[in-house]
Amino acid sequence: MLKTIEMKKGAVVTIDQTKLPSVRVELRMRTCQEVCRAIREMKIRGAPLLGVAAGYGLALTARRSRSKTVGRMVNELERSAIMLVNTRPTGANLKWAVQRIMEKVSSYRDVEDLRAFVLGEADRIRDEDIHSNLSIGKYGATLLDDGDTVLTHCNAGALATAGYGTALGVIRAAIQEGKRIKVIATETRPLLQGARLTAYELTSEHIPVTLITDNMVGYSIKQGCVNKVIVGADRIFSTGHVVNKIGTYTVSLAAKEHRVPFYVAAPLSTFDFMGSVESVAIENRREEEVLFLEGRRIAPRGVHALNPAFDVTPPENVTAIVTERGVLWPPYETNSRRMAESSNSAS
Ligand code: MRU
Repeated sequence: MLKTIEMKKGAVVTIDQTKLPSVRVELRMRTCQEVCRAIREMKIRGAPLLGVAAGYGLALTARRSRSKTVGRMVNELERSAIMLVNTRPTGANLKWAVQRIMEKVSSYRDVEDLRAFVLGEADRIRDEDIHSNLSIGKYGATLLDDGDTVLTHCNAGALATAGYGTALGVIRAAIQEGKRIKVIATETRPLLQGARLTAYELTSEHIPVTLITDNMVGYSIKQGCVNKVIVGADRIFSTGHVVNKIGTYTVSLAAKEHRVPFYVAAPLSTFDFMGSVESVAIENRREEEVLFLEGRRIAPRGVHALNPAFDVTPPENVTAIVTERGVLWPPYETNSRRMAESSNSAS
């Protein structure tokens, strides 16, 4: 299994996702500042991986700290936590991981115990993400049939997680069960996560994948080329509103119009049970990402571009949501809270 992130000899080691698929370059980060920069520059991306990377960002701060008191180390961790949560605002996992670590740091009385806790918790967040993805794969595979062609948008694969992937994990699991599955991947402008990353992951494993440009989605679905859609998510509200890569909403509209099931695969760490869709912060990125392609200007000088990184798919367009605890069906408000409660009492 492709391992996307680990702590090795005092550094967080991952793959620079901006360089794929041309070259596979290892990225080594020794400070939390370097982790934050890599996140802002999209070298590290994908909601679950951002959560794991944030945990390791705090682990680097704890590891390098020369503080002699718990209070001082907690102050350093708090500064790193603020820096991390300000890197990318939309995905839920990043803040979730930071909160999970930070809510326990003040209960320590000894600096070495605190350091060991932060390092250990970062590893646990990584390991749990892989386990969740394997479990999502197992539940999600029941929704796919032998012979299906599945459309996916962006990259919700191993590269977007600590390993195995969410949406691509479901496809992997179905194939491991012996089902013959073909994939249609959208290129996912402006940063081409589908063309560069999803196609890279699937071809590396000899999973049949056909690439389409984003504006071919409606045509492909109407022509009957797609049996099911499965995507990942960056934030899911208890109402079932799904925040995911820009373009997901358009895919959901075409799927609904042509009665193609639209599935979302995500761990419970992507769920936001406190917030509401009205207040979601959609990240707006630099317009140069749209105006340039691989460093070359593709629009006349003087033209401006919009660049929202995510959109919201309403619950009525979502057939089901696959989590590590099972498949959630509508009504999401009741069923997601029930699932969260049973998962809290189990842990
Ligand atoms: O901007 P990105 O590349 O971080 O966006 C990623 C996505 O939107 C993915 O679909 C989402 O994070 C799910 S990843 C398992």
